[in-house]
Amino acid sequence: MESSSKWIIASNRLPFSWDRSEKKLNRSSGGLVTAISGIRSDVEKVWVGSAPEGLDAKTWAAQPEVRPSNGQSFQAVFIEPEIYSLYYNGMCNDVLWPLLHYESGMVDFSDESWQAYVDVNHKFAQEILKTAREGDLVWIHDFHLLLVPGLLKAQNPKLRVGLFLHIPFPSSEVFRQLPVRKEILRALLCADLLGFHDYSYLRHFCSTIKVMLGVESSMLSIEREHHTTHLGVFPVSIDVAQFKRESAMPEVRRTRRRFQRSIPYEKLILGVDRLDYIKGLPLKLEAFRTLLETHPELRGRVGMLQITVPSRTNVPVYRQLRQEIEQLVGEINGQFAQPGYVPIQYMFQSVKFEELLALYRLSDVLLVTSKRDGMNLVALEHIVSQRPSDPGVVVLSEFAGAISTLSHIIPTNPWDLRETAEAVYQGLTMDRAERVTRHRSMLRYLDTYSATDWADSFMSSLAKRSKVAKPERTVNLSQLAPSGSKMSDVMALLKDKELLVFVDYDGTLVPICDQPEQAVLKPATKNMLKQIAEQPHVQMVVVSGRDKGFLTEQLQGLPVSIAAEHGAIFADSPEGTWKRLAHGDRRRWYRAARQVMSDYASRVPESFVERKKFAIAWHYRKSPKEFAAYQARKLKHDLELALSNLPVSVIAGRKVVEARSAGANKGTFVRWYLENHAEHRRRLIVAFGDDQTDEDIFSTIDSPGIGIKVGHGSTAADYRIDSQGEVLPLLDKMVKFGANQLTLPGLTTALRADHAEDSRADYRW
Ligand code: UDP
Ligand code: G6P
Repeated sequence: MESSSKWIIASNRLPFSWDRSEKKLNRSSGGLVTAISGIRSDVEKVWVGSAPEGLDAKTWAAQPEVRPSNGQSFQAVFIEPEIYSLYYNGMCNDVLWPLLHYESGMVDFSDESWQAYVDVNHKFAQEILKTAREGDLVWIHDFHLLLVPGLLKAQNPKLRVGLFLHIPFPSSEVFRQLPVRKEILRALLCADLLGFHDYSYLRHFCSTIKVMLGVESSMLSIEREHHTTHLGVFPVSIDVAQFKRESAMPEVRRTRRRFQRSIPYEKLILGVDRLDYIKGLPLKLEAFRTLLETHPELRGRVGMLQITVPSRTNVPVYRQLRQEIEQLVGEINGQFAQPGYVPIQYMFQSVKFEELLALYRLSDVLLVTSKRDGMNLVALEHIVSQRPSDPGVVVLSEFAGAISTLSHIIPTNPWDLRETAEAVYQGLTMDRAERVTRHRSMLRYLDTYSATDWADSFMSSLAKRSKVAKPERTVNLSQLAPSGSKMSDVMALLKDKELLVFVDYDGTLVPICDQPEQAVLKPATKNMLKQIAEQPHVQMVVVSGRDKGFLTEQLQGLPVSIAAEHGAIFADSPEGTWKRLAHGDRRRWYRAARQVMSDYASRVPESFVERKKFAIAWHYRKSPKEFAAYQARKLKHDLELALSNLPVSVIAGRKVVEARSAGANKGTFVRWYLENHAEHRRRLIVAFGDDQTDEDIFSTIDSPGIGIKVGHGSTAADYRIDSQGEVLPLLDKMVKFGANQLTLPGLTTALRADHAEDSRADYRW
């Protein structure tokens, strides 16, 4: 990360709420605030957010808490109360929140609230632009600000912008109900990086943009003509060290002892949730009722403490929910209460931090029954706050994002009351040894993955990705006008030069076929290739991933050399002897691979790195399935980027990603060829290729060598042609021009785009 750049973090909520009666700032609640506040990084940060409700600019500026300290400052966005209410209560909490949590029946859309949402997003964009300097990284958070990436990029395309969604992204079948679905998706696609907690959310996003906009994605990125949006899974975390440290403080221990005396249960089940319908509080209470019904021996001995933090109290559905819950608590208490025993203690208020930690430590089971939940940080907090020698247990809904990262919780389907009751029973009766083992395993993961790691991995990905996505600088030869100045540049390179031509086989010499064995050289093509390769000033090498048998058969009788298996083996001619090229040198890549793999090992629970002599492997057989499978794909991609041009190959096997010393890299082969064929070293290199493996050649050849990419996609080549059919005619003309057998107009005819067609839809945003 560049040291001079700062992070601009933008979220609707700042970590403060305004207490009107006491006239002071309190800490606001919710997972977003916990996560962002938990980032301990040295980078300068500006946190932009809505001014706490009820606070004017003058009073805001006078609060000591908002003064810059430790490299962090706060910038409040002041919004007129009516607009804010339409945006926050309306579009955010009455439309996007229920829809993205699969509660589409609750959605109450209006043009007015949408307009307010647009206005507030504009305000945020303007505020960010005021503070953004070249090199800064802008990190937008959550569903309140989905239009901001588009608005920022429209004004400053160079700004690097990422967005992280703290809540689920639902199935396309749900998202498509949104009247403004396209506006939102298009704005999101302007970001350089989009992050999600979980692979399933990313998968839904990809299928939604496919269904709604016809845009394809690779799950790792969305490549458009003018812009690449990178995609990633970055499960959020907490300040692990802080929770561990503070939960062991004497003050917390004292509070715990005080609670122990006043909470009259042998075993305590704890619930900590904002009062929100997504948290499944009625389901939790019903599951507790089922537990007491099915295990009557627990009556009088086991109790539940439910802390319910007030939230969004101006939205009617939240007020109704409060009544429903309080009624249910009363009913269950009435059903099971005994003298001196009230089974449920219910609090509708937030608690102090040390009280929360004390309760985490005191509880035997934390019960989370969310119907949908982006992540659920309470589950993580509970784990890191436990005493390792006698920890409590977490029963966690399958519908909370945390299920993908916490490997040893007890999972449950909250809709199945019996299953949840039994999961709680299992937690209450689990022996100490098993609790310790499970807890240790999850703590090991959390110890290496805190909110700071979350932020670092997102931001370094944003910094890296947006650098890769530089503007297209490749000249399209198919579309050059005959007399264009760039054309004369190409020509000037060829004049009187001896040529060394590297040419790929599939997709370059022959079209891609459904069945690989059908991709044979037609007699006419072979003839043309022969004429080109026979020219005295031409030396031609076919470089392919194919095996030697197939290539020998196809190229027999031609005056060409062949590199098969991506350059792992080589023959001077189709009839010559094959030589295996040794590329066993691991020094240049091993450390880099180890570094990347260790990062993954710390992020993915239960995964590990195995070091071998000429290989290094990342194993994930015991890790959470979907999450780890996604990370494996991402790791392969990262390794391929980091290690391209080096003598190593990256292979994804069963539950393992391995980097091995290999000769299987076309770029390494080209370097070897030049080192070992001194007689050809002074020739001008011309290379043709169509796929990712050919990029290694393009990145290897130095100027003034000419790399020509066939077809679409990002490339390191300086030149591009539109289709495979143009390769040999162009090469023929280039060779003839180089040997003074052809004049400028003859060459340029070949370079014109007479049959090139861009099939991609012209979608801009
Ligand atoms: N929390 C709080 N005040 C309380 C109790 C809890 O601010 O009285 C915090 C809790 O520690 C956690 C956050 O609120 O960090 C809730 O985050 P979670 O991801 O579980 O759910 P969200 O509220 O974001 O939906
Ligand atoms: C969730 C959302 C956050 C939000 C928090 C509290 O965690 O993802 O964006 O801040 O709930 O909700 P509130 O409406 O009080 O900000």
